[in-house]
Amino acid sequence: MTAPYALGLATQPEHPESQPLPLQGALPGWLRGTLVRNGPGRFEVGDDTYNHWFDGLALLHAFTITESGVSYRSRFLRSSAYNEAETEDEITQSAFATDPCRSLFERVMTVFRPQLTDNANVSIHRLAGDWVALTETPLPVRFDPYTLNTLGVQRYDDTLSGPLTTAHPHRLSDGTLFSYVVDFSKPTSTYRLYRLDAATNTRRELGNHAVRRPSYMHSFAMTERYLALVAFPLVVDPLDVLLTGRPFIENFEWQPERGTKIHVFERDTGRRVTTVPTDPMFAFHHINAFEEDNTICIDLAAYPDAKIVDRMYLDALRSGWTDVEMARPERIRVDLREHTATQERLSDVGIEVPRIHYARCNTQSYRYAYGTGNRTPGHFTDELVKVDVTTGAAQRWHADSCFPGEPVFVSDPAGTAEDDGVVLSVVLDASAERSFLLVLDATSFEEIARAPAPQAIPLNFHGQFLDADNPTRSMHR
Ligand code: CO
Repeated sequence: MTAPYALGLATQPEHPESQPLPLQGALPGWLRGTLVRNGPGRFEVGDDTYNHWFDGLALLHAFTITESGVSYRSRFLRSSAYNEAETEDEITQSAFATDPCRSLFERVMTVFRPQLTDNANVSIHRLAGDWVALTETPLPVRFDPYTLNTLGVQRYDDTLSGPLTTAHPHRLSDGTLFSYVVDFSKPTSTYRLYRLDAATNTRRELGNHAVRRPSYMHSFAMTERYLALVAFPLVVDPLDVLLTGRPFIENFEWQPERGTKIHVFERDTGRRVTTVPTDPMFAFHHINAFEEDNTICIDLAAYPDAKIVDRMYLDALRSGWTDVEMARPERIRVDLREHTATQERLSDVGIEVPRIHYARCNTQSYRYAYGTGNRTPGHFTDELVKVDVTTGAAQRWHADSCFPGEPVFVSDPAGTAEDDGVVLSVVLDASAERSFLLVLDATSFEEIARAPAPQAIPLNFHGQFLDADNPTRSMHR
């Protein structure tokens, strides 16, 4: 069986010249800027193929909205992973679930000089005054968000060690970033939380926590006063990462008997204030987090287990799996006085790649989360949802044979309500074999415009809207 969205998981050429797109409907006059998106766009190199959706070579996309309409361009990120693929005609760098075939000698050498991939195919952020593409190695790749030209790896000016990080740092309105790295070693590995001040490239370690079996975490939580790592029981013996020769994620084991451990740190000092156990679960994405009296509320798009990681192998994904439950919005409440945690499902509606009105609601109590959802089993990402996390009610958008990606909320500068604005999503229309930029009114969740591209655009992970007037401000809308 071939999944109807399989075209979105096929290699596509880049379109570096700006293509004007026809516009159906009308865009709000205040919506001027560029939606930049990141995701895999090439899955074969010579005779080699990547195994997993997360491994494909990064293809950047830009939808630019001006007075004269919408235009589109795309370019492969010229990472060393991409450049070596071009020159060697084979996969040369280890990825999430793909490893190049290596001789024993090469494998042993890799233990001493691990070569981390710079195939930054996950997200877009602003770092040290530049726009960068990020993945889960600490090798952000700078690029020009308008031409999509690659500018090179951003090197940190510090000695913070740890080969694994998150592509989802948190950010304050002044540009300060918070994030973490995982430093693998025996007998203990270390989670290191850091702070990166705006326009600098020196990560300052805030605090750390040593564990025997580090967890695979894709994102984390931040409130006004705390940072929290939700360590799911998908764990690894760090020596295995170094020695088995298996691709990175295949060294991790699901050990539900361990439960989920929530490590809470003070945001200012990095001091660990508690580690609290809760039920086993898995998530890629946190939605939001905030404080309520002596409680931290941590909302995430949670799965009952980590099967989703296996279902994202390209063979499984392209064949249309039906046996994995969608992530649901869950709230973990951590009581800082009692050192206990409770869990509550916020809605029965499935949600992935969740977004909020980040500038207004990050670290604050909030009402709306936007995400992709699933209506038909096996159709993976066939709707967009807007969930009211205070009631569990949801608004939904779908269309026949359409597969939308992460919805990016852009606030109306004259708006007052949390959902005054639009939601932008790149949608694959599988039967038309092409994709379009979809614009929904964020309040009604109804379509107000679309701009069809002449070709299919690979399904992609994450993006940001860059405000035309002030691109550096765009993360805060
Ligand atoms: Co992500």
